Amino acid sequence: MKVAVMGTGHVGLVTGVALASIGHDVVGTDIDGEKISRLAEGISPFFEPGLDEALRHEMATNRLSFTHAASEALRDAEVVFICVGTPARANGEANLVAMEGAARDIARHGRDGVVVVEKSTVPAGTAERVRDTLARERHGLRFELASNPEFLREGSALRDALEPDRIVIGVESPVASEVLRRLYAPLTDRGHPLIETDIATAELAKHASNAFLALKISFANALARICERAGADVTSVAEVMGTDPRIDRSFLNAGLGYGGYCFPKDLMALERLAERLGYRFPLLREVQRLNVEAVEAAAAKIEDVLWNLEGKHVAMLGLAFKPGTDDVRFSPALALAERLLAAGAHVVGFDPQAAVGAKQEVPGLEIARDAYEAATGAHCLVLATEWEEFRDLDLGRLREVMAYPVIVDGRNALDGDAVVAAGFSYHPTGRPAVLGARLTTAPRTPDTALLAAPDA
Ligand code: UGA
Repeated sequence: MKVAVMGTGHVGLVTGVALASIGHDVVGTDIDGEKISRLAEGISPFFEPGLDEALRHEMATNRLSFTHAASEALRDAEVVFICVGTPARANGEANLVAMEGAARDIARHGRDGVVVVEKSTVPAGTAERVRDTLARERHGLRFELASNPEFLREGSALRDALEPDRIVIGVESPVASEVLRRLYAPLTDRGHPLIETDIATAELAKHASNAFLALKISFANALARICERAGADVTSVAEVMGTDPRIDRSFLNAGLGYGGYCFPKDLMALERLAERLGYRFPLLREVQRLNVEAVEAAAAKIEDVLWNLEGKHVAMLGLAFKPGTDDVRFSPALALAERLLAAGAHVVGFDPQAAVGAKQEVPGLEIARDAYEAATGAHCLVLATEWEEFRDLDLGRLREVMAYPVIVDGRNALDGDAVVAAGFSYHPTGRPAVLGARLTTAPRTPDTALLAAPDA
C-alpha cells in the first residue's frame, strides 16, 4: 500500500521503517528540512538500536524515501500517518498546532478517499478537530479518519513496532477498518493481536496506558521511601507483588523516576483533558509529585552521605532518561545533576550516547570520556541511568581513582555485594545501605562514620 508519514521523529521514523519492512511503499516528510536532508542520505537524526541499518536497507529496496515537500508525500498516499510532535504547553495541555498543520497539508494535497491516521499521542477528541480542519480546508474531500496509537519504547522501538503487544485501531467506518487491517496484515498474520475500537477510545487508551505505567513507577518510588524508613527492601517487595499476575513485576523498579518525552507530557495532558471535561483526577498530580520527589530523595541521600555538597565532586554515570537511547528530554539524571550543581557540587557525567545532548541541556555539567575519568577524584559516584555496561565496571579501578569510596545507586542496578567487597559504601534506593561490611537499616549511621570506612 502507498503510505505517507508526516513527522519523522521517534514515532514517525520508526513507523515508516517498520511499514516499509512489511512491504509497504512509504514516503516520509517533515517540516524540518535538515532532518529530511539527512534522512535522504540514510542518516537517522537520533540513536535507536538497529534503526540506521534498517533505514538504509529499506531505502535501498526503494520502499522508503523522504521528501521535503508534503505535497509529494501526500499525492499518491492511500494512508497518511500523522506522527508530528504534540509537546506540552506551559499549562500542561498538549500543543496541537503541528496536528492542525498536518491536517491542513492533507486537505490541500491528499488524494480523494485518503485514510488519515493519528499516530501522535493526542487528547481524546482531537480527531474531531482534524475532521473539522479537513472539511473546512477542502470542501468535498472524501476521507476516512482513524486513530492508531503507537506503544513503542525508545531503545527497543523497531522491535516494538514490528512485534507489538497489540495494534489498536480506532475507526468509525468499515472502510477505515478494512484498510488498516490490510495494512497490518503482515503483523496480525504472525499472531500480533489487533483491537478495534472507536476513535476516542483509541486516543484515550494511549494516554491511559502511559499514565498507568507512570503510576506504577511512582508507586514503587513511594514504597522506596517507606522501605528506606522501615529497613525493608523495595526490590523484594516488588518481586513479591509482581508474582501476582494481576499486578505484574514490570515498571515497579524504584529509582530516580521516569523521564523522557512521553510520560511527563502525557500525564499533564491527561490531567488537563480530564479537567476540561469536568473531571478532577488528582491521582495524576500525585504521580507527578512522587516523580519529582524521587530525584529530591536521591539528592538528599547524596547530601546526607557527603555531609555538605559545596565543593564536592560527584561522578554521574548515565545521563539519558533511560538506557539504550541518546534522549535526555526530561531525564531524571539531568534533574539530579542540576539539583547537585545548584547546591554547589561539581558534577562530572558520563553517558555512552547522551553526552552531547546532556551538555547542551545542562551546561554546568562536565562531561567525561568514560566512567573512570568521571570518577577520578570523586567523593561520590551516582549511578543515574542503568546502561548495561555499568554493571561490568572494574570496581577495583574505580575505588583507586575515587577520593571517597561511596556509591549511590539511583537505579538499583549494581551488585551490592561486589560493590561492598571492593571497599565501597553502597547506597541503593529503597533498600538498606551497606556501609563497608556492615548492613545498616534506617536511621542511617552518621556521615562521619561512613566517611571513615576503609581507605577513606
Ligand atoms: C513509554 C512507553 O513505555 C511506551 O509504551 C510508549 O509508546 C512511549 O512512552 C510513548 O508514549 O511514546 P519510553 O518513554 O520510551 O516509552 O520509555 P519507558 O521504557 O516506558 O521508560 C520511561 C521512564 O520510566 C524511563 O525514564 C525509565 O527509566 C523509567 N522507569 C521505567 C522507571 O523508573 N522504573 C521502571 O520500573 C520502568
